[in-house]
Amino acid sequence: MNRISVTVDGVAYRNDVEPRLLLVHYLRDRLGLTGTPVGCDTGSCGACTVELDGRSVKSCSVLAVQADGGEVTTVQGLCSPGGGLDPLQKAFHQRHALQCGYCTPGMIMAARDLLRENPDPTPDEVRHGLEGNLCRCTGYQNIVHAVLTAAREGQEART
Ligand code: FES
Ligand code: FES
Repeated sequence: MNRISVTVDGVAYRNDVEPRLLLVHYLRDRLGLTGTPVGCDTGSCGACTVELDGRSVKSCSVLAVQADGGEVTTVQGLCSPGGGLDPLQKAFHQRHALQCGYCTPGMIMAARDLLRENPDPTPDEVRHGLEGNLCRCTGYQNIVHAVLTAAREGQEART
């Protein structure tokens, strides 16, 4: 067992974990944060994407011990304290960018990374930026629209 200290969605945790425990299983099974789903468990689908120290990672490809001392943000940590949706969550809702919703947490977390690096992306850049995240329902079109909507609103908020 290894003892880890990690902050998740603003809450500090200290737990003993098996050295081979994946971050996604730590989040879901130990902390009960089931908003981060497991799709493939092999780093292929992106459903499990979270932020670790400000960068998006596929949490099925990271060991919990690698998050020791770090800060993790899951899709559950994006809402305001009053429960209001963050701009990307709102845009996904408004633009009907989900059907079953299984890919949505990962899409939103990957899109945050994309918009941080490129706050005003083209549709092609959005598609390229999200190519590590798979959706089997939507055909991607509304996901791209949602990310462009959030980008536009981010631009307007800054002007
Ligand atoms: S569950 Fe992690 S990439 Fe698919
Ligand atoms: S909405 Fe079903 S997998 Fe994307």
